[in-house]
Amino acid sequence: MDLNEQNREQWVSRVGFILAAAGSAIGLGNIWRFPYITGTGGGAVFLIVYLLAIFFIGYPIMVTEMTIGRKTQRNPIGAFKALAPNSPWWLVGALGVLSGFVILSYYSVVGGWSLAYIFKAIGGSFVTGTAFDELFIGQISATWGPIIWHFVFMAITIGIISAGVVKGIQKSVQILMPILFILLFVLVVRSLTLPGASKGVAFYLRPDFSLLTWRSVLNAVAQSFFTLSLGMGAMLTYGSYLSQKENIPDSALSVVGLDTLVAVLAGFAIFPAVFAFGFDPGAGAGLTFITLPAVFAEMPLGAFFGFLFFLLLSIAAVTSAISLLEVVVAYAVDELKMTRVSASIIIGLIVFVVGIPSSLGYSVLSDITFLGMDLLDTYDWISNCVFLPLGGLLTCIFAGYVWGSRNTAEEANKGEGSFKVGDFYSILLKVIVPIAIFIVMIFGILETLNAHFEWGLPFF
Ligand code: PFF
Repeated sequence: MDLNEQNREQWVSRVGFILAAAGSAIGLGNIWRFPYITGTGGGAVFLIVYLLAIFFIGYPIMVTEMTIGRKTQRNPIGAFKALAPNSPWWLVGALGVLSGFVILSYYSVVGGWSLAYIFKAIGGSFVTGTAFDELFIGQISATWGPIIWHFVFMAITIGIISAGVVKGIQKSVQILMPILFILLFVLVVRSLTLPGASKGVAFYLRPDFSLLTWRSVLNAVAQSFFTLSLGMGAMLTYGSYLSQKENIPDSALSVVGLDTLVAVLAGFAIFPAVFAFGFDPGAGAGLTFITLPAVFAEMPLGAFFGFLFFLLLSIAAVTSAISLLEVVVAYAVDELKMTRVSASIIIGLIVFVVGIPSSLGYSVLSDITFLGMDLLDTYDWISNCVFLPLGGLLTCIFAGYVWGSRNTAEEANKGEGSFKVGDFYSILLKVIVPIAIFIVMIFGILETLNAHFEWGLPFF
């Protein structure tokens, strides 16, 4: 095991770090959310806005988070304490730890559905809705089945994190990420070679300026945050296991590139198949768990391809979930002096319990809503629309003004690399990114309130 002078584990290779960070970034957000918001948000035009958001907002924040982590070699709370002692800035780290906790609690519920669907596909129940289905898995709207799968998903996550940074995270991503890329490639080829596939490509990427509303621009920016795992210290925590030899601007570019590639390819795996069998591509959030099983039921060898797809989705979910748990565990290990194994198990079990209501929101607790949303969507909304943007905004202000953009850039550029950040990065960090995030956050919140309370605000 590689330890640095503070006895902290370190990634054993640059590729290991990039795969771990890409594993965190590439998740349900890429395969489940990105395709449908692109398909319904203006296609190619949306993609352009999204790419701008990824490179001019997401990328600088990713560099900043990784840099703060590497500089301080601490968890998010410890990191802010180290750079700004005796100030309230540690609360930004605390918000990150809280976000990790909340996001993981519902992320694991969806990860559990995904695991269950692997078995549904193998059991052939996409086609028949058989007894096998009822007995072992049940529906998302069942009471117990999804909770059991949520538990299984958390158990896998806990198992990996308790094994440590190198033996757990790095080892698992080095096995899982190549499998993920191969699965995605096979599914894209299958989907694109179906008769009638081209209509799906046309739908996915057709440039439609009329769909490009303020709302879809906000969606693009919010999605860039979630998909890159920003605003809650995940990249900060992974950066804290990075050696001084590595160049951050280069590594972050690889992570952003891989994440974007997978998101775009996921759309090519999904829409051509949806069109080839004449299904509705605009099902929104139900696309993955409702429309796709129906598509696989029609497709020749659908059980096999369904199995591959949900395996892909589960792998993507696990490699992201571990980064969420790692944020909280790193805090418990560094600051509360717990051992890694007990921190992983205790925190993991608490997360499991906290996630149960979001699972039950589709069955016995379906009457409980907040601003018209079910419980899982509520957890998702609070983290995505409030916690992550707020965390990202405060991190930028901290790095830009408190620690100083020059210090941050200098620290980021340490190590060998072909790409360095400079003045443009400082401007992004100090002015453009905070303003953009602020607007997105306020409008996102107002939009939800306006829709729910029917205020009839102009503009929305
Ligand atoms: N980036 C993940 C996805 O796209 O599914 C979600 C995520 C993981 C968000 C880790 C935040 C995080 F810290």
